[in-house]
Amino acid sequence: MADAAAAPIDALTAEQGLTDELAVGAGDQVLITAGAGGVGHFAVQIARILGAEVVATASPQHHEFLHRLGAAVVIDHTRPDWPDQVREVTDGGARRILACAAPTLAGAARAARDGAVIATPVHAEVAGRPGGQHARWLRYDGQARGSRPDPAGPVVRRRFAVGHRAGPRTTGRTPRRRTAWWKRGHTGARSP
Ligand SMILES: NC(=O)c1ccc[n+]([C@@H]2O[C@H](COP(=O)([O-])OP(=O)(O)OC[C@H]3O[C@@H](n4cnc5c(N)ncnc54)[C@H](OP(=O)(O)O)[C@@H]3O)[C@@H](O)[C@H]2O)c1
Repeated sequence: MADAAAAPIDALTAEQGLTDELAVGAGDQVLITAGAGGVGHFAVQIARILGAEVVATASPQHHEFLHRLGAAVVIDHTRPDWPDQVREVTDGGARRILACAAPTLAGAARAARDGAVIATPVHAEVAGRPGGQHARWLRYDGQARGSRPDPAGPVVRRRFAVGHRAGPRTTGRTPRRRTAWWKRGHTGARSP
């Protein structure tokens, strides 16, 4: 039950970052760091639904999983030079970045080209000041901006059939079992 409850939070967080913050659309390229995490694995799928090309980062054991979800390129973020690899495959640096885990924030700044936008749901007290003055950081926390009539977000509502209730956001718990379930290849609507 707890895992099921976490899924919409992660999905909505991913969708908000990609749409409200980064304005990702068809034909865009987006870097999603920690793409195999709770937020990240939804972000990879939602970015693909939006028509974007996805460059993701993850540990090697999650690369196949992310390719199956639609990532075009997956880079090993356990290697210290991963931001340089991102710069190579993105022709000089990523323009739009969803940085989905605190340990990837500094690397995200290094992977960003001048004028890039980096959105992150990592809480401010954890995120600190990751640097990267050449890029614009957007930290967001799931609070509605009032910019759209459907609070669940059109992509999440359509594709994942997620319900939404107004109220305080809960954040931070890692839905490990649910993520493991996805990694085993299940993509249906029911979790174990
Ligand atoms: N509304 C909100 O404000 C909101 C909602 C949800 C989440 N969040 C925040 O979003 C962040 C992500 O949450 P989550 O649930 O997606 O977390 P998660 O499921 O624990 O995923 C974290 C990912 O980080 C990667 N990682 C761990 N250590 C790393 C390291 N040293 N270097 C690089 N990557 C590393 C792991 O990837 P690999 O296993 O592939 O290495 C893992 O998949 C958290 O800070 C959370 O608090 C905010």
